Amino acid sequence: MRTKFKAWAEPYINEHPEVSLTSDEIKKLDDFYLEIGSGKGDFLVKMASKNPDKFFLGIEKNVTCAGFSYKKLVESELPNAKLIWQDVMNIFENIKDKSVNVVFLNFSDPWPKRRHYKRRLTSELFLEQYRRILKDDGILVFKSDNEDLFEYSIEMFLQHGYNIFDRNDNYQGEDTFDAKTEYEQWFNERDIPIHRVKVKKA
Ligand SMILES: C[S@@+](CC[C@H](N)C(=O)[O-])C[C@H]1O[C@@H](n2cnc3c(N)ncnc32)[C@H](O)[C@@H]1O
Repeated sequence: MRTKFKAWAEPYINEHPEVSLTSDEIKKLDDFYLEIGSGKGDFLVKMASKNPDKFFLGIEKNVTCAGFSYKKLVESELPNAKLIWQDVMNIFENIKDKSVNVVFLNFSDPWPKRRHYKRRLTSELFLEQYRRILKDDGILVFKSDNEDLFEYSIEMFLQHGYNIFDRNDNYQGEDTFDAKTEYEQWFNERDIPIHRVKVKKA
């Protein structure tokens, strides 16, 4: 499911700063919901439209995916959802301590080679940042089709100061505070099981 590069994406992003936030605006957020690796933005737009009283911030590093998300945000005119086109590692320094209610990781890239494990969004440096930015009662929700990444992530959560309080190895979308992503739709259509875990700070 590689996304083909689209030349329109970067100019479109530059024409629509209203669906993004500046570094100063990110620094002011103190009560929000963060999705890392938003892909083409379905989850972000659906969650924001179902929960108008909550603010959702998506982060996506791929320009074409970010361009698709921008289009959805421009067309939906949602006041409570924004997207940053960036690698999340460059954004953490702008996010306040204990400001995030939920970190959502949806179908994160598996990076199967051991030498690339540090790029996994559930590797140590990322987990340290999530612990810092999550509120004391905040949670992280991770959905994946990939068993190897999922088991690795469970180990990492346990090793790096998180408790698992909900695990489902055949998730069918039953949680009402959730929305289907593009990847999830694709896996559902092919009966590929989805793993989902919720963790909180130990
Ligand atoms: C497999 S796709 C899943 C997209 C979407 N969440 C879904 O479920 O349909 C993973 C996405 O995470 C993005 N991503 C990976 N590492 C990232 C990082 N460090 N910062 C921001 N985005 C990242 C990739 O560019 C890619 O679009």
